[in-house]
Amino acid sequence: MRTAIVYVSKNGTTKATIDRIVKSRPLNTDIIDASVNTDFRGAAYQRVIFGCGIYGGKLQQDLVRFVKKHHQDLIKAEVHFFIHGLLNKQDVTEVLSQSIEHISKLNVVNVHSLGGYLDIKTQNFFVKTLLGVLCKKENLDINNLNTLSEARTAQFIDSL
Ligand SMILES: Cc1cc2nc3c(=O)[nH]c(=O)nc-3n(C[C@H](O)[C@H](O)[C@H](O)COP(=O)(O)O)c2cc1C
Repeated sequence: MRTAIVYVSKNGTTKATIDRIVKSRPLNTDIIDASVNTDFRGAAYQRVIFGCGIYGGKLQQDLVRFVKKHHQDLIKAEVHFFIHGLLNKQDVTEVLSQSIEHISKLNVVNVHSLGGYLDIKTQNFFVKTLLGVLCKKENLDINNLNTLSEARTAQFIDSL
C-alpha cells in the first residue's frame, strides 16, 4: 500500500518518532514535513498518516492547514493520525474533530495517542508561564515533562 507520512514537529517529539519510523524502513513510504513542503499529490497514496503535537488543545496549525488544503485529495485514502500531547487524559479524537473541519468526511481508520515531551528550558517566558498554569492544573512536574508512551509508540510503529 503506497503510504505518505505527513508531519510537523515544533519541539522535536514528532520528529523523533519519524526518525524511528525511518529506521524501521517501511516500504513504499514517503515522508513529508508539512511545515516546509505543502505540495502533495494525495491521490497517489492509498494510506496517509498524519503526525503532530497538540498546542492549546488543538492539532498543530501547519498540519491542520495542510489537511484543509488537500482535503479533497484525501477522500479516497485510508487516513491515520499519531498525536503527541502531554495531557494523557484528553480525548485525542475530540481534539481531532475540534481541529479539523469536516473530519467525518475522511476515512479515519486510526488515531494513535502517544503522549508528549517538552524541554521547558527551551521555551520563552510566555510559554513557560502558560505551561506553569497548565502543569499546576494537571498535576505535572514542569521540570520533567515526559508523558511519552513507549508501548503505544512501539505498537504504532509496528502497525506500519
Ligand atoms: C505552547 C504549548 C502549548 C501546548 N499545549 C498542549 C495542550 O493543549 N495539550 C497537550 O496535551 N500538550 C500541549 N503541549 C505539549 C506538546 O503537545 C508536546 O510537547 C508535544 O510532544 C510536542 O510535539 P512536537 O515537538 O512534535 O511539536 C503544548 C506545548 C507548548 C509548547
